[in-house]
Amino acid sequence: MKTLKISSSKKDILSIADLSTNEIDMILMLAEKLKREQKRGKSRPFLRGKTLGMIFQKPSTRTRVSFEVGMYQLGGDAIYLGANDIQLSRGETIEDTAKTLSLYLDCIVARVYKHKDVQTLARYASVPVINGLSDSFHPCQILADLMTIQENKKKLKGLQLAWLGDGDNVCNDLMLGCAKTGISMTVACPKGYEPLGEIVELAKAVGKKTDVNIAITHDSTSAVRDADIIATDTFISIGKEGERTIREATFLPNYQVNKDIMKLAKGDAIFMHCLPAKRGMEVTADVIDGKWSVVWQEAENRLHTQKALLCLLMKAAL
Ligand code: CP
Ligand code: NVA
Repeated sequence: MKTLKISSSKKDILSIADLSTNEIDMILMLAEKLKREQKRGKSRPFLRGKTLGMIFQKPSTRTRVSFEVGMYQLGGDAIYLGANDIQLSRGETIEDTAKTLSLYLDCIVARVYKHKDVQTLARYASVPVINGLSDSFHPCQILADLMTIQENKKKLKGLQLAWLGDGDNVCNDLMLGCAKTGISMTVACPKGYEPLGEIVELAKAVGKKTDVNIAITHDSTSAVRDADIIATDTFISIGKEGERTIREATFLPNYQVNKDIMKLAKGDAIFMHCLPAKRGMEVTADVIDGKWSVVWQEAENRLHTQKALLCLLMKAAL
């Protein structure tokens, strides 16, 4: 196996913007290899003696469990640090937390409310920091999504992805992931729920070099026509619960992925969702539980892509 090389001595992954196309390719290649090996019951201890710290200010099923299990499968350890388990909850600064944790840990994953908090953590930590979801980005999800697309479509370049719903943290990083790997992406969202303007501009600029089109529209029907992939996410991200009534009224019915929407896409289109999902809201049960859906493969690939990422960041001798 080709050794993964990373230019700087410490690399943080706070967004897909932190990964080059080449690095994404390498992570996907390694993830496929680790997945094949794991299916054969062969997991090699590339991270023996290494410990991952896991700071979670928000709940999580997939991110928490896949990181923890991934470390164990690679022969390392993981320590879950819930919001109230560390002195951060009593006012210790992020700077001091980062410096202290760096004395014991080899890598940190953090799920935070404010993106600037994970940026501060990364700035003061001397070990690599991975964003496990902030209000702005979700890079680990996008690595799993790209792997899932590649497995289903046997390629990335030249595909067309339509995103329906909230231009949220997952959408921001997915635009960057698509732009970097040659997938054109159209986001259909209500007015006022567009992805971050600076990320749209960045994705468009990257897309110019990779020959992809990144577009924002408010018209779901035109966005999904002839798409290879339709993706969505909850209308109510963690922390937005207070906006439930207004959001549901704004997003429904125009931005729901249902059978009629899927039928406008290509005949072999797939449906993706990072989960957790609300059936009857952003997606109907007959789509997420139907023939188009690859959501369980997508959830599984969180494990494989994160194992690859951990090996890369902790410089495993592969
Ligand atoms: N997709 C995802 O990140 O799921 P969790 O919130 O369960 O970690
Ligand atoms: N946009 C969602 C993603 C959950 C994985 C949230 O932030 O809650």
